[in-house]
Amino acid sequence: MVLMNSLAAALKSINNAEKRGKRQVLLRPNSKVVVRFLTVMMKHGYIGEFEIVDDHRGGKIVVNLTGRLNKCGVISPRFDVGIREIEKWTNNLLPSRQFGFIVVTTSGGIMDHEEARRKHLGGKILGFFF
Ligand SMILES: *[C@@H]1O[C@H](CO)[C@@H](O)[C@H](O)[C@H]1NC(C)=O
Repeated sequence: MVLMNSLAAALKSINNAEKRGKRQVLLRPNSKVVVRFLTVMMKHGYIGEFEIVDDHRGGKIVVNLTGRLNKCGVISPRFDVGIREIEKWTNNLLPSRQFGFIVVTTSGGIMDHEEARRKHLGGKILGFFF
């Protein structure tokens, strides 16, 4: 639950910073789940590069924003999603088939729904972004 709270807080900070047109946002504490989620977002260009700073206070992450993100958020509780249900979840959570991703945690790590589908992995839903 602690991990989910820091992910929820991180995604909320990103939403707020994007709404205000900021170019950068500072997230703390640093967490592995947050870093993996950000990596998926960066891979698709929804955020820019980010830097992890060890400040001996739990760490922080400085994220460059691109202005491309409309919204991101966590899904709680973390519903199980079977490989055949991924389509249903993307329809429910994303505004369009053309853009946006659901982020799932699987036995093969944290990844977007397209990668999970390619690898035939189900898992649990962490959140979404579009
Ligand atoms: C973020 O953007 C700033 C300003 O464009 C740039 O100087 C910096 O290197 C970027 N940081 C990362 C981690 O890419």
